[in-house]
Amino acid sequence: MENSQLLALANKYGSPLYVYDTDKIESQYNRLTNAFSSVKNLKLNYAVKALSNINILKFFKNLGSGLDTVSYQEVQLCLTTGIEPHNIIFTPNGVSLTEIEEVAKLGVQINIDNLSILEQFGQKHPEIPVCVRINPHIMAGGNSKISVGHIDSKFGISIHQVPHIKRVVENTGMNINGIHMHTGSDILDIDTFLRASDILFDVARQFENIDFIDFGSGFKVPYKEGDISTDIEQLGVQLSERFNEFCTEYGKDITLMFEPGKFLVSEAGVFLAKVNVVKQTTSTVFAHVDSGFNHLVRPMMYDSYHHITNISNPKGRDRYYSVVGYICETDTFASNRRIAEISEEDVLCFHNAGAYCFSMASNYNSRYLPAEVMVVNGQDYLIRKRQTIEDILNNQEVVEFSSKKKTTKAEVTA
Ligand SMILES: Cc1ncc(COP(=O)(O)O)c(C=O)c1O
Repeated sequence: MENSQLLALANKYGSPLYVYDTDKIESQYNRLTNAFSSVKNLKLNYAVKALSNINILKFFKNLGSGLDTVSYQEVQLCLTTGIEPHNIIFTPNGVSLTEIEEVAKLGVQINIDNLSILEQFGQKHPEIPVCVRINPHIMAGGNSKISVGHIDSKFGISIHQVPHIKRVVENTGMNINGIHMHTGSDILDIDTFLRASDILFDVARQFENIDFIDFGSGFKVPYKEGDISTDIEQLGVQLSERFNEFCTEYGKDITLMFEPGKFLVSEAGVFLAKVNVVKQTTSTVFAHVDSGFNHLVRPMMYDSYHHITNISNPKGRDRYYSVVGYICETDTFASNRRIAEISEEDVLCFHNAGAYCFSMASNYNSRYLPAEVMVVNGQDYLIRKRQTIEDILNNQEVVEFSSKKKTTKAEVTA
């Protein structure tokens, strides 16, 4: 999206503002699909947690994508789009048996990531086929906070516990119809997926009724100019070949699944925030924007890099700034960053703001959640209104109480 278009949207809808470009979402979706075109049955399940506005979910449904969910509430959001429940997969971690049963009742594909729930679910519902999430004990991902397939991770059933899964299946009569893994986010090396595929094929061979293998996600996207990303096309060639060989050996064209979040929506989104104050100190020039980690937490949470440009003065002379927020907490978006000269009221654009940005936003400092806009074929649509004070007060109860402390008997005697 052009700077002038983004600036016009900031003027029209106010700031801070999230903007999503569906052309980019579609081209990423097509890129991934094309990379695996030699696989007979491919299914992408968009990871809803990355960006869960129902209009974005509907856009994915219209592309033919399935949806990957982690909570009952995400499943409910997906169902508002009219998607068939069997096109939703539920991959939660550490949720209760009751929540899994509620989702299963809707006809959604269940993915279980621990032996305890697997056994309980199998005993009560042996007729419902489930997928199992395997932890392949592979260290992969951009940093330790987003690496989830290693031996110390809370996710998945250890690869060493596959014999236990088989025992549960034998004892309960349940059916395993899918094998899943997800090792982390920001994975550059396609070798990670290839090594993991050998592990998953080995697991799949041990079950008779596998319909799909889900390789999760974790594809890295570029965050700044010159950044490298996962070589999807190369992965497509190599993994498809292995997958097709596995299907021949297994005697069935099973489905190859992925559940990408970041790859599909990260680059499609930008976050626009207005500069409230430019503050020169003895060591730094701070640009304080009308936002904070309440709206975009990734830099403070994961040290994530978001490229920042000044769309009000894109041709200005570059200067060094620390871009910070307005909340009462250290909320640094970027330190010592070269940005075109910033003046108060300029609009800064935070790139790669489609994934894990709005969906992680909060009301900290009682600030409103930003508005969201979706651009489809050049036309902008407001898909979430900025909150108001009514939203902040909505679930709070006003109760009558006396703030005067009651005097005890002992205090009266004394
Ligand atoms: C189980 C699972 N699948 C898919 C994803 C999406 O990963 P990414 O956004 O890196 O594509 C995640 C991310 O946390 C996940 O936990």
